[in-house]
Amino acid sequence: MDYFHRKDGHLWCEEVRVGDLADRFGTPLYVYSQRTFTEHFRKLDAAFSDVPHLVCYSVKANGNLGILRELGRLGAGADIVSGGELVKARRAGIPADRIVYSGVGKTRAELALAVREGIRCVNVENVEELEVLDEVARSIGRRQAVAFRVNPDVDAHTHAHLTTGRRENKFGIPLEEVGRAAEVAARLEALQVVGLDMHIGSQILTPEPYREALRQAREVVAFLRARGFPVEHLDIGGGLAVRYDTEEPMTADEFHEAIIHLVRDLEVTLILEPGRFIIGPAGILVGEVIFVKEAGNRRFVILDAGMNDLIRPVLYGAHHRLEPVVDRPGDPVPTDVVGPVCESGDFLGKDRRLPPLVRGDRVVVFTAGAYGFAMSSQYNQRPRAAEVLVDGTEARLVRRRETWEDLLAAETDLIPGP
Ligand code: LLP
Repeated sequence: MDYFHRKDGHLWCEEVRVGDLADRFGTPLYVYSQRTFTEHFRKLDAAFSDVPHLVCYSVKANGNLGILRELGRLGAGADIVSGGELVKARRAGIPADRIVYSGVGKTRAELALAVREGIRCVNVENVEELEVLDEVARSIGRRQAVAFRVNPDVDAHTHAHLTTGRRENKFGIPLEEVGRAAEVAARLEALQVVGLDMHIGSQILTPEPYREALRQAREVVAFLRARGFPVEHLDIGGGLAVRYDTEEPMTADEFHEAIIHLVRDLEVTLILEPGRFIIGPAGILVGEVIFVKEAGNRRFVILDAGMNDLIRPVLYGAHHRLEPVVDRPGDPVPTDVVGPVCESGDFLGKDRRLPPLVRGDRVVVFTAGAYGFAMSSQYNQRPRAAEVLVDGTEARLVRRRETWEDLLAAETDLIPGP
């Protein structure tokens, strides 16, 4: 579900023509629909209204301050994975007591920032981390609430790079280590174990992997409670899928229905960490055709947007729907939509049936709100795209386009410019 639609031959985002946004802000351009992510947040929040719960939006999916601020206003917390994400979540006004922090390699500096901010929970991923966090908290003179992030060894049936809850993945405390972690935590005075956490992967289409992980989690909750730890919350991570092409992901209500019986009697606050589910369908990437080239038997449409703007196609073989922003007459032809970057992997879609696009046309890449801008880079010394947030008839620039000067900003070996 989203608020992008076609009317009179044009693509619209809510009540704004996407072509007008490209004229006004230039391309490559990320455009977000506030109504879309608001609705996705609200649906998930409402689906779980029968249990105490907190939806912690996963900042890594899209850390734009404008988006974080709106989600914070709606009542979302934040799931963070770095000190930088903590800084952004706080700057966006998300209260510290709604922030949870996972990550396999948190540094002392990052842990210290988390303790000083007084975040709700640090999801500890190994025994060594418990000891370091305890030291850090003691030196600051605070007690820090923690959860064990366990690795339930569950197959999420998703892309190999998007699975995190298998034994061979680097994430979480292996189940057989939980006993040792509990022993260590029990003697660390600056830590208080208040929860259990897991995250089994991303773009998960069916409830079964969650159920399997929850069955494991229930045993761990019982184990920890038997040892005197008050497990007040259970964090089941993110991972809910969205439709890129023809997938049939679960709705919020279906997800709730499928798992809630494994949660209710535990009498915990349920924490969810969705990223993609909230922001994925709410964002598009718009590029402009620079050239069209026929080579061999292929037709290449070369955009000003490329893999540095959206790396998902080459990194995961991800399929993002592509369309012209303005209808173009003519029979569809097989087209490779590529970017200007010097890599053969620089494509947004291969062998797509698109009308015969010409120089100057705009192309939209759908479902690019999650892990789109967030994973973009300046590769090939390309300034990053601008981001615009649309709310009804209003469009607000929430991140300006980077400039060539920005490419130089952090360099220290400058000579007077040309
Ligand atoms: N919680 C934790 C601890 C995570 O590691 C992640 C994502 C999430 C929540 C949010 O997952 P989501 O609800 O968005 O599936 N770059 C990849 C996705 C990597 C996800 C990493 N962790 C992509 O473009 O598909």
